[in-house]
Amino acid sequence: MKLSETLLVLVFFHLCLGVRLISTSTHNERKPYIVYMGDVADANDGLAAHADQHNTLLVEAIGDEGIAKESMIHSYGRSFNGFVARLLPHEASRLAQKESVVSVFPNTIQKLHTTRSWEFLGMPETVRRNLKAESNLIIGVFDTGIWPQSPSFNDKGYGPPPPKWKGKCAKGANFTGCNNKVIGATYFNLNDPDMTEEDLTPVDTDGHGTHISSIAAGVPVPGASLYGLAAGTARGGAPSARISMYKVCWYFGCSDMDLLAGLDAAIADGVDVISVSIGPAGVAGRDFFEDALAIGAFHAVKKGIFVSCAGGNFGPELMTVQNVAPWMVTVAASSIDRQFQTAVKWGSGLGISGISINTFSPRKKSYPLTSGSHAANASAKADGNARACDSGTLDQRKVKGKIVYCVGLGQDSTIRELGGSGLIMADDQYPDVAFSYVVAAAAIKPTDGTKIDGYVNSTKRATAIIYRTRTVNMSAPFVASFSSRGPQFITPNILKPDIAAPGLSILAAYSQLASITGSEDDNRFVKYNVISGTSMACPHVAAAAAYVKSFHSRWSPAAIKSALMTTATPMKIKQQDAELGSGSGQINPVKALHPGLIYDISMSSYISFLCKQGYNSTTIHLLTGGKKLYNCSTLRPARGTDGLNYPSMHLQLPHPNSTISAAFYRTVTNVGYKNSVYTAKVKSPEGLEVTVVPTTLSFNRLRQKRSFKVLVKGKFVEEDAWILSALLEWSDSKHSVRSPIVVYRQLSAII
Ligand SMILES: *[C@@H]1O[C@H](CO)[C@@H](O)[C@H](O)[C@H]1NC(C)=O
Ligand SMILES: *[C@@H]1O[C@H](CO)[C@@H](O)[C@H](O)[C@H]1NC(C)=O
Ligand SMILES: *[C@@H]1O[C@H](CO)[C@@H](O)[C@H](O)[C@H]1NC(C)=O
Ligand SMILES: *[C@@H]1O[C@H](CO)[C@@H](O)[C@H](O)[C@H]1NC(C)=O
Ligand SMILES: *[C@@H]1O[C@H](CO)[C@@H](O)[C@H](O)[C@H]1NC(C)=O
Ligand SMILES: *[C@@H]1O[C@H](CO)[C@@H](O)[C@H](O)[C@H]1NC(C)=O
Ligand SMILES: *[C@@H]1O[C@H](CO)[C@@H](O)[C@H](O)[C@H]1NC(C)=O
Repeated sequence: MKLSETLLVLVFFHLCLGVRLISTSTHNERKPYIVYMGDVADANDGLAAHADQHNTLLVEAIGDEGIAKESMIHSYGRSFNGFVARLLPHEASRLAQKESVVSVFPNTIQKLHTTRSWEFLGMPETVRRNLKAESNLIIGVFDTGIWPQSPSFNDKGYGPPPPKWKGKCAKGANFTGCNNKVIGATYFNLNDPDMTEEDLTPVDTDGHGTHISSIAAGVPVPGASLYGLAAGTARGGAPSARISMYKVCWYFGCSDMDLLAGLDAAIADGVDVISVSIGPAGVAGRDFFEDALAIGAFHAVKKGIFVSCAGGNFGPELMTVQNVAPWMVTVAASSIDRQFQTAVKWGSGLGISGISINTFSPRKKSYPLTSGSHAANASAKADGNARACDSGTLDQRKVKGKIVYCVGLGQDSTIRELGGSGLIMADDQYPDVAFSYVVAAAAIKPTDGTKIDGYVNSTKRATAIIYRTRTVNMSAPFVASFSSRGPQFITPNILKPDIAAPGLSILAAYSQLASITGSEDDNRFVKYNVISGTSMACPHVAAAAAYVKSFHSRWSPAAIKSALMTTATPMKIKQQDAELGSGSGQINPVKALHPGLIYDISMSSYISFLCKQGYNSTTIHLLTGGKKLYNCSTLRPARGTDGLNYPSMHLQLPHPNSTISAAFYRTVTNVGYKNSVYTAKVKSPEGLEVTVVPTTLSFNRLRQKRSFKVLVKGKFVEEDAWILSALLEWSDSKHSVRSPIVVYRQLSAII
């Protein structure tokens, strides 16, 4: 099974990693730390000057030239300034105190978090495109590499890379090279050699990076399917755009220092859009300048590059959203209208439909059925639960040739190893996710599971059959169960995730160097695979941004983000956590071409926001670099509850019984019709009073700006309510510019 990196796989990764780190730490206590020093000093100084500066600092911190030399891992300096070195904690703190250093933080290991989806988003293959502009756009994908032989990356009809392109195409084992579609492919691996025994190559041996890249910019490939499932034309959202792969993820995960090295290169290479389906392995929040992705994204946005990031797969729990810096777009995963159903029948005809991707057709009319508890090995020594079919708890003789009923997900390898012919799993954690398994399998609701369990108990000759999966229509969109929810910890009054895009059961290109499930027991190697995750949602937004940019070349990353957010479609299937799951809603790329008004954010507004967050002028000068001195005490101070011209509005109450009182200051820019008058409409729930001042905005030219404020007051009427959502809509009858207004309080403090 594979949830773009399932929790199970994850736990496994971390166990391995833990063991390895312990074994290496005995001969070297120094650990890699990233020393981040803000903007590059001066373009003319070049990399060599930066490297000298880094070496000097390191010698000062360590106090021994020889050790310093051995400890240096890598210097950054193409797009921002900094380095990675192996340090002891006290050396790290010594460096952190230096005037020229913004932050020092330990390297952590992050994880990876049809194409009917574009049809579903209202973007048919024939949608109007600005092909010339689109083919000059480059999408930089940060992932597990790419398999360029995929039909989705066929470059027939593509001209040479755009002239601005400065990137590279690295060589490596099993990598057939770049073309005019995949114009760049490089890898970054600064980790200890004993952590990565993989070949150093940009090729994708996992499948994830190929999948992501084709969702963003794959060419249309008719007749794509996974063994006939989800058949149709597979294509990316910006099929004329070019792809550059930055391979920063290896079998153990994706380390901060590699991610930063990739970003340092991508910004300088000339990419227009960056797609990063990577996030921390845990849910804890990190200060923006101790977060490799937030740092890299800051420098990218400064250069006008749009950055789309996956919001994480830690849902449905609240406060699990990741990658929350306001300069990037945080993407949640929503569903499309297609469900993968697998019928299960037992006994003399009772049947139910489960969820899975089962490509195996049954060879017999029925199979003997057993359950984990019946097939238990009485003399098993392994810890574990036989009901859950944990590895080592079952008796091979009682499993061989049978379909086994188990409680919980993910025992397919065990059942296959014991010669079982199928697996029925009872699960309610991911009721909407169709996983692939190495044996015929279906996941069913626990209530249905109890029925099967009772049937197995009631007879000596229980039988069942699992059919091949078929696709059915379902009502959509809704937020996928696994998609991380807000609110966030770092800047509490900015709503995250920002937006949702399809991330549930997406068919896209795959690497034939990896099996469908990623398991070594799986001998199904395919050109197109179906996987789920916020990882898959993220490149949808990257492509939508490229699509908007191909019509509006001068729009800033914040303007494009605003266009995508204010034209998004709210979830059709209402869930209790509403906007905390999907932000402004599901993207509608075609509508985003004509948003009417945009909420733009300049670099100096981000700086004012950072001043308000407590970063001082010294730090800020390092971040911005250059001759222009930003000074927190002379900049126009950030005003209001959130301090940023954000396209959504959010308030987290500091205490569950606090009264609601917030003020949001906003400025919109007219990008619709020259002469237009917009009126504010507010929909708000009981208890929440939203006042907009003024309630009309008149424009008589394009690019004209108008400001307004939104005052939010009230209280929670229901004692156990924890969210109140209102909606502000500016309308000129042609455009509808929508912003959710969300108030959240954490109830657990009361209980
Ligand atoms: C049952 O478990 C014991 C102890 O782990 C093991 O030696 C034995 O092979 C198992 N029996 C079967 C049939 O799987
Ligand atoms: C079936 O039998 C097992 C083992 O005796 C027991 O744990 C389980 O609760 C039974 N299930 C039902 C639905 O009766
Ligand atoms: C699902 O139903 C809708 C509305 O009837 C239809 O437009 C759409 O094409 C259907 N989707 C699939 C996958 O059949
Ligand atoms: C990759 O290349 C190496 C060396 O050429 C080869 O041994 C290996 O089998 C290849 N791996 C795959 C998955 O094709
Ligand atoms: C800014 O903050 C840094 C790190 O906290 C500190 O070392 C420095 O002295 C501060 N500068 C000013 C001008 O307050
Ligand atoms: C910022 O401006 C204040 C007030 O004008 C001034 O006192 C301070 O020295 C300036 N700080 C920097 C780092 O330029
Ligand atoms: C909040 O107010 C309710 C009702 O007045 C009260 O019962 C509760 O103790 C208060 N909670 C806290 C955390 O102060």
